[in-house]
Amino acid sequence: MVEKSGSIISMKHLLEISKLTKTDIENLLVKAQKFKQELCYPKYSEICLANLFYEPSTRTRVSFELGAKRLSLMVTNIDSKSSSSTKGETILDTITTLEAMGVNLIVLRHTEDYLPLKIAKSVKNISIINAGDGMHAHPSQALLDLMTIIETKPKLEKLKIAIVGDILHSRVANSLQLIFAIMNVGELILITPKYCEPSYVHYGTVTHSLENGLKDCDVIIVLRVQKERFKSSENFDIDDYINFFKIEPKVLANARPDAILMHPGPVNRDVEIENSLVDSKYSKILLQVQNGVFMRMAILDTIIRENNYV
Ligand code: CP
Repeated sequence: MVEKSGSIISMKHLLEISKLTKTDIENLLVKAQKFKQELCYPKYSEICLANLFYEPSTRTRVSFELGAKRLSLMVTNIDSKSSSSTKGETILDTITTLEAMGVNLIVLRHTEDYLPLKIAKSVKNISIINAGDGMHAHPSQALLDLMTIIETKPKLEKLKIAIVGDILHSRVANSLQLIFAIMNVGELILITPKYCEPSYVHYGTVTHSLENGLKDCDVIIVLRVQKERFKSSENFDIDDYINFFKIEPKVLANARPDAILMHPGPVNRDVEIENSLVDSKYSKILLQVQNGVFMRMAILDTIIRENNYV
């Protein structure tokens, strides 16, 4: 894949996958691979990035920080629990305060759906990168997942991909459906218990049968069971989930012999995936984590260049 010219979008923010074209995505993939293969990176030492996280994170927060540091950015991490938001400051006031201090890019994770999109409409000289908003979107995760799939299985149009588990509460599942639609994957199947089926599906076919859904799959993306997002009225029964939806060797045998197993993390071992499979030859979970740094470097580099921050 080579970088293409003619993208119709100048990337001011990264808010959701639907705002990207196929060319934008292909260019990000090319750039991320280039960063992965080369040890020589651009230096943006005058640019400042703030990580502003109102929800816990290991992978996303640290990979944006490490990616930014490889590009020589100044990085500040703001812990919402010890910030002035605890004194009643609005998030928009926090962001304009950071902007006044010279911050150019905000990596924002929040519990509220669509908040990064609302914030992006209200700021002028700062770029917002959505690092996961409620149950809505997680665009950088979808991009790094796509990078991982292509590295292992490049012919997307020939692949059968399954997303398994708690689709109802998953911002990752939303962003993945959108990116797979744009990139024309062969087939997408959403395997979920009835109680985790979303009311709206962007792309793909839904099944409630793990065995049938996994048949001849090339790529299996397992989601975290988001216990914190179930309402008490939903009577979620974790043992029932494990009985019917945990990925274990017996059920994995329905997929292709060279199928790969992915998970955005954090994994609940022996809930979503049997413990031994998490570290097995099928698992690409740590490759996803590794690629996350390079894809986030590609996102930062693209936004910095396209907005003339340097
Ligand atoms: N996949 C993901 O978003 O992980 P973190 O919550 O650790 O960032």
